[in-house]
Amino acid sequence: RRALGRIFDYFFVCLFVYLPEKTSSAASPCTYHTFSDPAHVVLLRSQLLNWYDKEKRELPWRTVAETEPDVNIRTYAVWVSEIMLQQTQVATVRDYYNRWMKRWPTVQDLADATLEEVNQMWAGLGYYSRGKRLHEGALKVVTELRGQMPQTVDSLLKQLPGVGRYTAAAVGSIALGQVTGAVDGNVIRVLCRLRAIGADSTSAAVTEALWGLANTLVDPERPGDFNQAMMELGARVCTPKGPLCSQCPVQPHCHAFRKVGTLSRKASALPDIEDCSNETCQLCPSEPWVDELGVQNFPSKPAKKPPRVERTLTCVVARPGQQGEEEYLLRQRPNKGLLAGLWEFPGLLVEGENSEVQQKRALCAELRTILGTHLTESLFQYVGEVVHIFSHIHQTYVVHSVCLKDSDTQTQTGNAQWLTRSALQEAAVSTGVKKVCVSSTCSVWMAVSTSRTLHGIGDFKFSFV
Ligand code: ADE
Repeated sequence: RRALGRIFDYFFVCLFVYLPEKTSSAASPCTYHTFSDPAHVVLLRSQLLNWYDKEKRELPWRTVAETEPDVNIRTYAVWVSEIMLQQTQVATVRDYYNRWMKRWPTVQDLADATLEEVNQMWAGLGYYSRGKRLHEGALKVVTELRGQMPQTVDSLLKQLPGVGRYTAAAVGSIALGQVTGAVDGNVIRVLCRLRAIGADSTSAAVTEALWGLANTLVDPERPGDFNQAMMELGARVCTPKGPLCSQCPVQPHCHAFRKVGTLSRKASALPDIEDCSNETCQLCPSEPWVDELGVQNFPSKPAKKPPRVERTLTCVVARPGQQGEEEYLLRQRPNKGLLAGLWEFPGLLVEGENSEVQQKRALCAELRTILGTHLTESLFQYVGEVVHIFSHIHQTYVVHSVCLKDSDTQTQTGNAQWLTRSALQEAAVSTGVKKVCVSSTCSVWMAVSTSRTLHGIGDFKFSFV
């Protein structure tokens, strides 16, 4: 009975002491971090939309969203744009988007394409699984949904691979007029500054608070424009570094801006009368304010993990080619994992502390399995090192070249092919492979141009970054 009593005691302590404290600030942030006055919300919407109407960039997906009468095409077009814009700048996406929509103007057209064609179109845009997901999604829409794109935020989220909370909300609001906020990286920054949210912006409490704010603010008449205006503001005015506060249409609502002004006027450590009053607030910064940063004190993110460092031995194998143009050997990567299904120069990851001689031997053995011919290590010419930075990998390609005399050299494995330089430029290859290709050309050029003045070149070393 005593034990039972203890369990009861523990239960009540949890209920009355622990639970309320843990949930109160997450469930309902204090008014300092919210928009509690409806008049302010109405004013902010009109200030932001007036600015957007004057300042917005003409972007191809915006034109489609505004002018395309067919809801299926509109949804498809905005879906493509939002996937391309994940982790990629507008300026880079523009051309890729135009080419994509010209080639595959409907979801049916995309479903009819091969993954190889999609990878080819995506080459150079990075994060290649995005193109693959678009293709998978198109196949699903055509085979399982009778060619009809999902028409609500919920069904976009559930039915389309690669579509998460943000993308579903963006497509739903921009293409379908659904009234929902949409929180991407730019919007996180704008909202954190507007409401002085300085806790880790990747935490669950901050994420929920930001979606709550976005849903409160979104304009019910023009949800798509409102969300794009928030993104535009983040990209062009409320930027990560050097924000242009004097040009900000919603500056009067910005707690971060007011804080900078107040602190510089008062130069005092006393809390601002309008600061958050909740001592256990999960949205307030945990780090002290840094004067020099100004509004850039918001948002705060945990430090990025340093990238994994890798070295890959790679070999540019050339043969005379059947049409007179030199051809290069490429091998296809497995269809899962990094750069899935893309083509690259054959190579292998450097593991352990192998000597250069051992590395060359291993590279030579690798090529023998692809070509079947007997290659000798003396054919391998060291070219140089090419550095390529992926989001999470610092990759160094240690480049060698081999020039074969025989234009008939056959490949022994199914996943290899010979491509001319011009075909390689159009193929499904990553930017890293293009850099390696350039390095092998430059090495020849440098050897020719420098060998007149320097002796014994042939083992020079350079880096492409
Ligand atoms: N980033 C994500 N979606 C965007 C959009 N529709 N316009 C501009 N930038 C964006």
